[in-house]
Amino acid sequence: MTSCPFEKIPQQEPGQIEEVADLTEKLQNKRYPKPERILRGVHPKSHGCVAANFEVNADIDQSLQVGLFSRPGAKYQAWVRFSNASATVGPDLVDSKNGSRGMALKVLDVAGDEAVLLDDGGARSQDFLMINTPAFAFVNLPDYLRLNQILLENNDDPSMFFAPLGTEVPGITEEDIERIKRSAAVVGGIQSKPVANPLGVQYFGAAPFLFGADRIMRFSAEPVGGAQPQVLPDDPSPNYLREALAAQMSETSDIVFDFKLQVRGSDEEGLGIEDATTVWDEEEFPFVNVATITVSAPQDVGTETVKEGCEQLVFTPWHSLESHRPLGRINRLRKQVYQTSADHRETP
Ligand code: HEM
Repeated sequence: MTSCPFEKIPQQEPGQIEEVADLTEKLQNKRYPKPERILRGVHPKSHGCVAANFEVNADIDQSLQVGLFSRPGAKYQAWVRFSNASATVGPDLVDSKNGSRGMALKVLDVAGDEAVLLDDGGARSQDFLMINTPAFAFVNLPDYLRLNQILLENNDDPSMFFAPLGTEVPGITEEDIERIKRSAAVVGGIQSKPVANPLGVQYFGAAPFLFGADRIMRFSAEPVGGAQPQVLPDDPSPNYLREALAAQMSETSDIVFDFKLQVRGSDEEGLGIEDATTVWDEEEFPFVNVATITVSAPQDVGTETVKEGCEQLVFTPWHSLESHRPLGRINRLRKQVYQTSADHRETP
């Protein structure tokens, strides 16, 4: 893979990426034995897909008029898919613990002369994949590889990944322990963060991306006016998130998210390009609104046509204009793995 001047690619990386892609396919086969339909490698459970409009703010600061955001006031059609990150389809709460929740945004037919890194079945789309916490849980490829090996050997139970924190493991270094502790802290943060309604919370790209030639961005979507307090139902049904989304979409008020960016110079310290557990302090580097996502209501998210369309959508951070190129090892890994997962689930 070609790299960008701000990235450092270790020699062994392509082989590790191959291994994760191979494990992704094996895990899909194991979870969905024939004749079951093969679903996404992760995020297989959808709460619903909605049609949306994505509009670049008319008053966007000139310094931010880059790539997709080049033309103030530009309007695009979009799709949004809300999901659980969990690798398997199950109840939304597992042992009363919250899981990671996803919001994937696909901005369709992006305008301009700029090339896309990967086209979307022949079309030009800009995808923004987000989760409801600002950091991704895994630092590097060997960790992600080890996690997937553990999932394959232990029927999708990841707890062994954290075993080195409680026991003596031969060959494990202080540095390994530090990294696993960081992952455990991110997972702990996810588990303590309730989501009662997928339309009411803030989502984050949780990784760095290019912003034009020499700046770096992180992105987020947040309900206009801020995230709403999240109070879980007393006795949540296994699909309470899908039910909450469908109920809100049956009402008549549109749902609007601000789409916002943190943008920093590529020569700054502490960007964490090769470590997706990094978060940029929002006090020091505040998010700036650059666009709005409007989901018009009512929409029936429960029809077979909408559900099937939702299954067939393919999101990847590499459906992207060159200006917003995904950066860092976790994003490089994602290129091949998303492709493998989508091909294996036989999307058109
Ligand atoms: C910054 C970190 C990440 C974020 C924010 C993220 C977010 C998401 C979201 C929101 C989806 C659901 C897309 C949809 O609705 O169709 C998704 C799908 C997926 N993610 Fe990630 N993800 C991240 C990292 C990773 C990594 C490191 C891997 C593994 C290499 C991975 C593998 C996948 C796969 C296989 C799918 C399903 C692809 C498909 O079949 O279409 N993700 N991700």
